[in-house]
Amino acid sequence: MIRIKRPSILPALNSDLLKRANLFKFIREFIEASNMPDGYYMEFGVLNGEAMIDAYRQFRGVVSYYLGFDSFEGLPDLTESDQEAPE
Ligand SMILES: C[S@@+](CC[C@H](N)C(=O)[O-])C[C@H]1O[C@@H](n2cnc3c(N)ncnc32)[C@H](O)[C@@H]1O
Repeated sequence: MIRIKRPSILPALNSDLLKRANLFKFIREFIEASNMPDGYYMEFGVLNGEAMIDAYRQFRGVVSYYLGFDSFEGLPDLTESDQEAPE
């Protein structure tokens, strides 16, 4: 039987981690563990800034600059190749 060794991070990569709050906590821990002196948070597609506010609350003290961008034109229509992509 062939056994495949999985990286230890994989069990954490479930849908719970992918919830925004958990993802931001994970990123904050990574930033703290990395001892980064300064940091930028950039979000492309901020809409009403809801996620950016969450990011600010979570990264206060470890991220110094917050930059948000938006075209305010909504998301583009799906192309043919987007619709072929697996869900
Ligand atoms: C689903 S909303 C983002 C929601 C937000 N990030 C949040 O989590 O609260 C997507 C946003 O991306 C913007 N957008 C789409 N294409 C863009 C582009 N090429 N450049 C900048 N903003 C874009 C849309 O105008 C829209 O406001």
